[in-house]
Amino acid sequence: MKLSVFGCGYLGAVHAAAMASLGHDVVGIDPVAEKIAKLSAGETPFFEPGLPEILSQSLASGRLRFTTDPAEAADADVHFIGVGTPQRRDGAGADMTYVNQAVADLIPHLKPGALVVGKSTVPVGTAARLAELVNAAGARLAWNPEFLREGFAVKDTIEPDRLVYGVADASKEQDTTILDEVYSRAIAAGTPRIVTDYATAELVKVAANSFLATKISFINAMAEIAEVTGADVTQLADAIGHDARIGRRFLNAGVGFGGGCLPKDIRAFTARAEELGKGESVAFLKQVDEINLRRRQRLVDLVVDSFDGRVFGRHVAVLGLAFKPDSDDIRDSPALDVAVRLKGLGAEVVSHDPEAIENARRLHPQLTYADSVDAALEGAEAVVVVTEWKQYRELDAVVTAAKVARPVVFDGRNVLDPATWRGAGWTYTGMGR
Ligand code: UDX
Repeated sequence: MKLSVFGCGYLGAVHAAAMASLGHDVVGIDPVAEKIAKLSAGETPFFEPGLPEILSQSLASGRLRFTTDPAEAADADVHFIGVGTPQRRDGAGADMTYVNQAVADLIPHLKPGALVVGKSTVPVGTAARLAELVNAAGARLAWNPEFLREGFAVKDTIEPDRLVYGVADASKEQDTTILDEVYSRAIAAGTPRIVTDYATAELVKVAANSFLATKISFINAMAEIAEVTGADVTQLADAIGHDARIGRRFLNAGVGFGGGCLPKDIRAFTARAEELGKGESVAFLKQVDEINLRRRQRLVDLVVDSFDGRVFGRHVAVLGLAFKPDSDDIRDSPALDVAVRLKGLGAEVVSHDPEAIENARRLHPQLTYADSVDAALEGAEAVVVVTEWKQYRELDAVVTAAKVARPVVFDGRNVLDPATWRGAGWTYTGMGR
């Protein structure tokens, strides 16, 4: 099929390359010329395992190209909108500038009968509004939310765990057939598929992310209780996680969630619910947000306490900057936030991350960045693990002790074994254990 993808960020670039790798003919469109030049040369503008491979294969096959010119979408039968919906600068709601612009750029080039497919996470009601514009141009609109996780984006796009099609009632069968053809491989593999209306499709995405955020903040709230009772939140999570109704995944307590999705999605959902006069229905999401942000300060307080309240001039090694491992994304990253807060208190912070240093440096040039773990550890009076990269999880407690000035470790992700680290002479502090 001939497809276009508007937006070449985390969502759009992966979608374009993945669709081409499935055999479709794809054009990726983005107004940022630098991004287009990079992608056209087979370079990924961000770190995502597996993306460089499918990008270069698809470019070489001739089925994938990138451009800044929306007119090049004219040939396509299906157009995906995969641009960002970040938090507004002036509030909690979603900034719809990029979605509105992409649709406006596309409309003059739509063939009659073309299908526009929204993938961006948007406030409920957006699809109904955009459908009027698209229909007026003789085309149709569907909403097909994306559930990809960074670090697993390629797999999640090619082998999704479910497909959701929000379609107009009048063209339900026709649009479902087209989307089934786009996703024929996943459909043939028996992937569950839910065909619904626009509002449900839009809500599925924010509901899923709200649930995940709530699950993480729930266990972090338990960590707060564990901290004043001497309980171990990790064992608590293991024990309740054996109940299949609860499940162990997304019950890892620590410094909390960040990234380009969960924080802004729960805020945008709260803002949208308030507009709809139903703010009370999701008022709990404000507490989910608050619990989450408290954990960052809690970790900072623990570090400061270990210096009897005087962290000024003390050498703190912060391991991790990305919001999660296997990503170079620092948007709303708890790890970067902890480094910045400690630096703000006067600590000599030296940060390391296998992939995210370049992005962090651009935003926070005042921090000191080490290009190796060893360089960060050298002379450290406290070590703070804030992103659970494999190389930090596998640090040898004995070898590491020999590198630092003071063997004091803060496990912001509860990924180190306390007994091993204490056995090697460390003062170990986890989050709620
Ligand atoms: C999320 C959703 O998982 C995905 O379905 C959606 O499409 C986009 O948003 P992503 O932002 O890539 O994906 O990250 P995710 O793996 O969900 O992690 C989010 C944050 O939660 C990370 O900062 C992670 O460290 C944190 N987290 C996750 C925890 O603190 N504890 C956990 O148990 C799990």
